[in-house]
Amino acid sequence: MRIEQNYSLLKHNTFHLEVKTKYFVEYDNESALEKLLCDEYFFTQQFLHIGQGSNLLFLGDFDGIIVHSAIRGIEKTGEDREYVWLRAGAGTDWDTFVKHCVDAGLGGVENLSLIPGEVGASAVQNIGAYGVEVSGVIEQVHAINIETGQKRCFTNADCNYSYRQSFFKEAGNIGKYYITHVIYRLRKRPEYRLEYGNLHEQFADKPVTLSAVREAVIGIRRRKLPDPQVTGNAGSFFVNPCISTRLCKELQEQYPDMPHFPVDEEYIKIPAAWLIDRCGLKGLQSGGAAVHMHQPLVIVNQSGLATGQDIAHLAGEICRRVKDRFSIELQPEVNYI
Ligand code: EPU
Repeated sequence: MRIEQNYSLLKHNTFHLEVKTKYFVEYDNESALEKLLCDEYFFTQQFLHIGQGSNLLFLGDFDGIIVHSAIRGIEKTGEDREYVWLRAGAGTDWDTFVKHCVDAGLGGVENLSLIPGEVGASAVQNIGAYGVEVSGVIEQVHAINIETGQKRCFTNADCNYSYRQSFFKEAGNIGKYYITHVIYRLRKRPEYRLEYGNLHEQFADKPVTLSAVREAVIGIRRRKLPDPQVTGNAGSFFVNPCISTRLCKELQEQYPDMPHFPVDEEYIKIPAAWLIDRCGLKGLQSGGAAVHMHQPLVIVNQSGLATGQDIAHLAGEICRRVKDRFSIELQPEVNYI
């Protein structure tokens, strides 16, 4: 187990904010985690389990213990005629896992290429992109209840997945389980999903293969989204709002070109990027933070010197302007700490 004191979180938050934590604890196996959860001092402090910090906004230093999993590695746990089951450690880099699947000829996660973060977070956030959500390939999530120390195996149904939502994000469950491993079910004969946006256009004159889909998705992401290695950001800052069909009809009278995607009979999903764009907010700044020019759903640490407060202030301003114009309340996807 690695323990650091008065530790910089610069490399543990993709906004690149220079914040510190009183303690940083990293474990690389389940028994080390169990030992940590038996430690009396641990529970006297405030604590937070993080992944790669690609969905966090630190508003200041953290006066407590930041916990991180270094349980890594990918192994095959089963196979039949159609599927292969892979078990990955929660601390495995997500895109390393995607590349492993693509290289092994296994389908299901290729559309989720290059999403920052780790395997554990993929199961909490139900990450999604280009028409695919990870919940479609998650078979089981193995976790430890930090209050009782008991291990629990969640089936896919137990995880209660929906758009960017899971059991682990529900009130009362947040932070209660530390995920150790996720088991994914991948297809030996891939079923390609190319309906989203212009993805299919890229295959007009070349065969569809797993690696070609991965390359196409990486290409789109590189064109549209800022590289967090270069410019601090946390991907989509807000989730796409679901509004009532009534409000949608009212808005369509004023904005006939508003993109909208029915979720069910009652709700319609509206791209937050479009709402922010229509408010003319691309490039809007607050201190060192700015609304990204190519994808306004992303807030960037433009100067490299932005503070968490700059980013929170800008996000607040975006919410206010979108609410004033469209009567829609945007909800952050990013967690404020
Ligand atoms: N749009 C604009 N102006 C822009 C950009 C987009 O009006 O400058 C509108 C367009 O109508 C476009 C629509 O927004 O069709 C949707 O844009 P995009 O395809 O980029 O997708 P998104 O809904 O903004 C979601 C995910 C992304 C994911 C993409 C692709 C959420 C919160 N975000 O974004 O996920 O990569 O779809 O599937 O659902 C992330 O979570 O960090 C992330 C990047």
